[in-house]
Amino acid sequence: MPMTTRTETAYQHCLNASCGADFSVQQTIFSCPKCGDLLDVAYDWDRLPVPRKLSDFSAKWSNQLDPLAFSGVWRFRELLPFAPPEMVVTIGEGRTLLQRADKVGRHVGVNPGRLLLQYEGMNPSGSFKDNGMTAAFTHARMVGAKRVACASTGNTSAALAVYCSATDHGFKAIIFIGSGKIAYGKLAQALDHGALTIQIVGDFDDAMQRVRQVSDRLGIYLMNSVNPFRLEGQKTIMYRILEGLGWEVPDWIVVPGGNLGNSSAFGKAFIELKQLGLIDRVPRLAVINAHGARTLEELVEHRALAWVDGSPNMRLMSEYYDELDRGGIKASTIASAIEINRPVNLKKCLRALSFCDGVVREVSEQEIMDAKAQVGAGGLGCEPASAASVAGARKLRAEGVIAPSDRVVCILTGHQLKDPNATVAYHSGDQELFEKVLGSRGVRRAGFANRPVVVANDLDDIIRTIGLYSETTDSDDR
Ligand code: F0G
Repeated sequence: MPMTTRTETAYQHCLNASCGADFSVQQTIFSCPKCGDLLDVAYDWDRLPVPRKLSDFSAKWSNQLDPLAFSGVWRFRELLPFAPPEMVVTIGEGRTLLQRADKVGRHVGVNPGRLLLQYEGMNPSGSFKDNGMTAAFTHARMVGAKRVACASTGNTSAALAVYCSATDHGFKAIIFIGSGKIAYGKLAQALDHGALTIQIVGDFDDAMQRVRQVSDRLGIYLMNSVNPFRLEGQKTIMYRILEGLGWEVPDWIVVPGGNLGNSSAFGKAFIELKQLGLIDRVPRLAVINAHGARTLEELVEHRALAWVDGSPNMRLMSEYYDELDRGGIKASTIASAIEINRPVNLKKCLRALSFCDGVVREVSEQEIMDAKAQVGAGGLGCEPASAASVAGARKLRAEGVIAPSDRVVCILTGHQLKDPNATVAYHSGDQELFEKVLGSRGVRRAGFANRPVVVANDLDDIIRTIGLYSETTDSDDR
């Protein structure tokens, strides 16, 4: 296995402090061949042209006809310089919004102007995954891969399928999903875009294990976030937030935690920006688990698992996984995107939490659905997993960890239409549907429901109903 000679300005570097081996970016390896640990993409920044200040990136906006400037990922390519520009695979990802959301801010409990929602549902495939896919597909093209695979709770597979269908580099999509474990909007995307869709009897953690084995055996390129190139693309979500704030650093970044790719990427983004002298302070990071998939919260907040300068006590993790196995405990949450008990990027996330003075919280199904309704009523809307960020911010505010004057950015990771079932079950007032989808998971109330109104097909009735509705909303306004 050829190791890098470090003549390259970008290389793959083993995360394990006692290994620290380096490998060329031309290699297709998704874990360290020497010790099996996670890999980072690392850079020799001294030999790379990095802008002297972040505001230099603003100029790129003016060059819309250049696909690399149009992309909200590759506009920042000097901060992920692992690929020659001609190898970049882009579908115009990352042109997303940072939205001021005062109504949602009231639910969270922060002052007007202090809550912002980073709306990643605007990506071509409807979730933040496109930020990472463009980078991993670029690497796949660099190494000549054609067959690409992932295990997914739905969004990774949707993004992977879109990058195969919408580009012309001969990529073939193979996706592994837990049967019955994926929201319909996402399954629809995989099928519509022509991916080979393998539904296995099991959950995400099972699918993840299988896709790794299959990729190893058949030499298929792995697109999950264990692929370090994915995370390079996901760093740019943070750059766009800074850009949206006029290059100011917020007080908090709040993100849902599943496989922990995002939180890991965000931490790496801030580590590098600080190292490069492009920012002088870092935001605090809050990672939010769903109660039914709370490995990170349990390990960090209750069992004291921490980064400790790169030597975390991973025995705490193995012991916890053994307990889950012994108890037959599987991840379970309405936020199906984050229904994961064995997050592959756990160790990198510990680094991010350490660097960004992070905290981890878990939120209930009720809190997730209520926060989701608030995001719908006061923002651009999101799927349940994304709303965990808002529910988590509210919890941290109630605890006094977040102050009312703090500037808080919650990441809305996925589009509202990804999971219409959960939304309709919450709002519709159909008791049977509510029980089946939400009640069975412990959701008791739909306190923020916007019920559809059933009216006879009669003009007078319809006009009377509108009158009644207007009176209630007018009095709400007063
Ligand atoms: N939010 C959404 C909408 C997601 O789809 C995911 C992950 C997450 C949050 C969690 O992000 O893994 O970086 O901590 N979805 C993956 C998938 C697992 O297969 O689509 P993470």
